[in-house]
Amino acid sequence: MKIIEVQDQIEGGKVAFDILKETLKEGAQTLGLATGSSPLEFYKQIRESDLDLSNLISVNLDEYVGLTGDDPQSYRYFMEKNLFDAKPFKESYLPSGVEESADQEVIRYNKILEDHPVDLQILGIGRNGHIGFNEPGTSFDSQTHLVQLDDSTIEANSRFFDKIEDVPTQAISMGIANILAAKSIVLFAYGESKAQAIKGTVEGERTEKVPASALQGHPN
Ligand code: GLP
Repeated sequence: MKIIEVQDQIEGGKVAFDILKETLKEGAQTLGLATGSSPLEFYKQIRESDLDLSNLISVNLDEYVGLTGDDPQSYRYFMEKNLFDAKPFKESYLPSGVEESADQEVIRYNKILEDHPVDLQILGIGRNGHIGFNEPGTSFDSQTHLVQLDDSTIEANSRFFDKIEDVPTQAISMGIANILAAKSIVLFAYGESKAQAIKGTVEGERTEKVPASALQGHPN
């Protein structure tokens, strides 16, 4: 694991943008993308660049259950506004949160990930150390699955909703094994509210109690 300290999100976004350019030079075909506030400067760098992503595939980490892609709180909508509208990919996959059978959706998404191995995976981190929506206790061997969100995650994400009751309680998320399968991974973490989670990720033991500590076993 390589730690890069930056002053702010703008610098972090630039560092990641340089990593992206390198990865593309090396022939990357698939990007793994994340929502949340942490990757926003990175997406801004891409939007303002002359990069052409139209031959690439993107796969996203997760989506809330119960929200359609045109719901402003959905992760599909977030990705369209922050990246895809300005920089369309050949194909952009996210889990669908509105399929009648979550089980079928999970199978479909795992197949997509199998067909499109991720070259560079972007991650944020939850205050409780979650990556994607893999809450503490999730197996490091997990594939895409249906998740019951932790109360702390619902509380943290309620800032994007009118009221806490509106926050979905379930999501479909890539599993930790899917994330670890990426050739390289960049995780953004900013600010004091993430300090404890980062301490556990970097200095603690590799334990399912801190999902991001799984990254200690990743080569890049
Ligand atoms: C959500 C997402 C995660 C994200 C986390 C942190 O729970 N599912 O993928 O990393 O929020 O978000 P932020 O970057 O806004 O702190």
